[in-house]
Amino acid sequence: MTPEELKEQGFHEACKLSQIPQIMPFKATINGRSLLLCRTAEGVSAVDEMCPHKMQSMAFGVVHEDSIICPHHQYKFDLQTGKSSMRRCPPVNVYDTYLVEDTVYVKA
Ligand code: FES
Repeated sequence: MTPEELKEQGFHEACKLSQIPQIMPFKATINGRSLLLCRTAEGVSAVDEMCPHKMQSMAFGVVHEDSIICPHHQYKFDLQTGKSSMRRCPPVNVYDTYLVEDTVYVKA
């Protein structure tokens, strides 16, 4: 898809791929939402910044094996499904991403 087609489908330009560290998320405000962009084996994933456990920021979390680990109580969230490693914790919202060359777009 071209950048114009992505915008028509509700995607917003988020950042350059090079801005996202390998083992940490990159925080970006997209369409008024505070999101974290994380590298995965498939490319890039975008999730809400706030952890669904106690609504604390995961901006200083660790990205490891397609999951983000919250820095507060170390709950792990799958970057594809949003599911938590803790059964009773709700999932984190995951947003569609799309890469055009080195530009990351997020549907949010
Ligand atoms: S606030 Fe994230 S695991 Fe508790």
